Amino acid sequence: MGVFTNSIATFLAPIKHYLDDESVSEVLINGPKEIWVERKGKLVQVPEGFHDEGALQAAVRNIAQSVGRRIDAENLVLDARLPDGSRIHAVLPPSARKGTTMAIRKFAKAADLTFDIMIKYGTLSPAGAEFLAMCVALGKNMIVSGGTGSGKTTVLNLLGGLLPAHERLMVVEDASELQIKAPHVVCFETKPANVEGKGGLTIRDLVRSAMRLRPDRIIVGEVRGPEALDLITVMNTGHGGSMGTTHANTPMDALVRLETLAMMGDTTIPIAALRRQIAGAVHLVVQAKRLHDGSRKISHISEVLGVDEHGTYKVQDIFKFVQTGIEPDGKILGAMQPCGNLPTFFEEFAVNGHPFPKEKFYKEGAVPSQAPATNTTTNLSQYSPAQIQALQAAATKAGMTLEQYHKALVLQRQRQAAQKAASKKSGGEAA
Ligand SMILES: Nc1ncnc2c1ncn2[C@@H]1O[C@H](COP(=O)(O)OP(=O)(O)OP(=O)(O)O)[C@@H](O)[C@H]1O
Ligand SMILES: [Mg+2]
Repeated sequence: MGVFTNSIATFLAPIKHYLDDESVSEVLINGPKEIWVERKGKLVQVPEGFHDEGALQAAVRNIAQSVGRRIDAENLVLDARLPDGSRIHAVLPPSARKGTTMAIRKFAKAADLTFDIMIKYGTLSPAGAEFLAMCVALGKNMIVSGGTGSGKTTVLNLLGGLLPAHERLMVVEDASELQIKAPHVVCFETKPANVEGKGGLTIRDLVRSAMRLRPDRIIVGEVRGPEALDLITVMNTGHGGSMGTTHANTPMDALVRLETLAMMGDTTIPIAALRRQIAGAVHLVVQAKRLHDGSRKISHISEVLGVDEHGTYKVQDIFKFVQTGIEPDGKILGAMQPCGNLPTFFEEFAVNGHPFPKEKFYKEGAVPSQAPATNTTTNLSQYSPAQIQALQAAATKAGMTLEQYHKALVLQRQRQAAQKAASKKSGGEAA
């Protein structure tokens, strides 16, 4: 790609200074003469322009070439990234009515946005960030959901960076964008088919390959097609801590969206079974939101509890953003607050050596509603020597003592039983 760096810079000369300007996060080109830039979440039109449509198309073609993709009369759209990692999407006329239309999402250096900075920006609370970090450590499967440009990829990047050092992470993306800072990361990018329609590799193909390459966890950068089913399968087959992003406006919608996407493929799974699989696979939904004032927040961190007998997903919010007011200039005031619900896996924190005070889930001055009652007595004498041996092996693999592992197992079973009972109860009440 090195040889293209200079040519791309030359072709993009009219907007180059915006690409270099750190206060600009996005450059939007609506044909050669209309250019907008985003600063602090707000869009302003700028006077610069390209000489003509030909000059703009030459720039787009050059970018396409640099990443081995094509944009022409047969392929009017392009997903690619610039040599510095900035992501672009372009559409050519006649589909783009104003002339070549392109969005350049500036590459945010991984070091730019950390959880600490996000806390300072008010994107989430320290307790919320700590909770997410614990959930990554515990191998909870997560979906980061949100609208366009709400900060999903940024959150996924940060979560990926919290991975334990001994784990092997496989990342699958359409156009490579994530830059996860972890010691053992392997990245894959899709490849469009050639002119004869051959040689293409889809996200689904790559997830299947990733599954055969001994992953501990798999991340699918953006789930927007039938690969949703593959990600669910990954999550349900012991690759705990797998993650992905999807476009949806609420945690509940994110689950419904996954369901819709999973059904886009050739699946013949009955809907009720698919729902149970999704509800069993996804432990947490992290909802990102871009507010009216341009700020990005994590609006919800929610736990998926299951599905009730009517096929409705059951979700409990653990943390959410609460707006408390608005300033005269439109700036939204508020902060992330705990919702007073204890995650059902709360006990796992302590068992796995990550104690997390219950109080952090309390609403101010209130007592959180309790997770299903748990009896943590562990009696190993009920097992045969062979069973003990199997438990010991699993415990060693998980880096725990036999007692710790057994305790976690008992808790997990109790939780599942409680969830089952709760879903029966809510079904019964509604009937
Ligand atoms: N918490 C935040 N505070 C300020 N800026 C942020 C925050 N999170 C993300 N951003 C910025 O917002 C822009 C969009 O972020 P990001 O690419 O993560 O969004 P996205 O939801 O993945 O977008 P898309 O839907 O296009 O994939 C980036 O420029 C990023 O640096
Ligand atoms: Mg994204």
